[in-house]
Amino acid sequence: MSSIHEQIDSLRSSFFQDLKNSFSVKDIENLRIKYFGKKGSIQALMQELRHCTPEDRPHLGKLINDLKNDLVSHSDHTFERLLRQETEDRLEKEWIDPTLPGRKSFLGRIHPIHQMMDKVLDVLIGMGFSVRYGPDVDTEHYNFGGLNFASDHPARDMQDTFYLENGWLLRTHTSNVQVHVMEGHAPPIRVVAPGRCFRNEDISARSHVFFHQVEGFYIDRHVSFADLLSTMNDFLSKLLGEKVETRFRPSYFPFVEPGMEVDVRCSACRGSGCRLCKHTGWLEILGAGMIHPNVLKKGNIDPEEYSGFAWGMGIERLVILQSSIPDIRLFTQNDIRFLSQFP
Ligand code: PHE
Repeated sequence: MSSIHEQIDSLRSSFFQDLKNSFSVKDIENLRIKYFGKKGSIQALMQELRHCTPEDRPHLGKLINDLKNDLVSHSDHTFERLLRQETEDRLEKEWIDPTLPGRKSFLGRIHPIHQMMDKVLDVLIGMGFSVRYGPDVDTEHYNFGGLNFASDHPARDMQDTFYLENGWLLRTHTSNVQVHVMEGHAPPIRVVAPGRCFRNEDISARSHVFFHQVEGFYIDRHVSFADLLSTMNDFLSKLLGEKVETRFRPSYFPFVEPGMEVDVRCSACRGSGCRLCKHTGWLEILGAGMIHPNVLKKGNIDPEEYSGFAWGMGIERLVILQSSIPDIRLFTQNDIRFLSQFP
């Protein structure tokens, strides 16, 4: 076996050979492990001291230590140089021009439909209603049957309603929430239900296959038709302004009796007649009525003891009328030029 001195010399020369062949920070890291690691060459050489005489050990140990310090300082030096080099190379490659103008980012806004929905809900929450969200996908029972639609009612037709598999459908109005709420709650009930509705219609400037409604209903003892009229007046003046003028016309919906439609004075011509109101001076704004006794009965509410009213309104229509939107499709085209007009 060669002497410690010889081994020191050969370790030194193999180290410098390796150092010469190190061209990257990674190479130096490997070199450090190879020579200075726990299982590295220096440590192995230290182990050799066991075979030396106790008198030689301190002297030889010092030699190995000096060797180690020397090699460490060489490798550190090369490491610094390579690291500096690599950093400079990277900065060169990833150079950015700080004088370029920044990219403009757009701030999102709330969609006009949701702005209007929030406005409607704010008013009604202030009037003591609480919000319920019904399912968009529902059954014929909740959308029609529970609402007193006869089994041959034309609205049940495939032409008007999107049917899914196994008796499911896309709700055609938010009135389905009435049935859900009556099923799970006893009066007094004072609920407002906003949401999306779907109808199988041709898409045009005036109609779309989906739109939004807000439904309101109130069930308690002694709820009268006069309560309905005053609530509608109160609600519409809070929503559209104190001076709004309303008109109530009889109308038919299977789930209310009597039923009516509510008009407001045309906002564009103030009643003198224009294209927006089709020269009637009035804009139809919602459907309403006293909840039909059959609907209460199906909802396990005794119509002898309780009565109630309900109304439903289209949100798209409200925005169209208020902001003179020429085409309902604008709401779903995500055109920033349109949407940014509703700050
Ligand atoms: N659900 C009716 C519609 O979609 C609106 C309505 C709701 C009418 C409640 C009367 C009472 O047209």
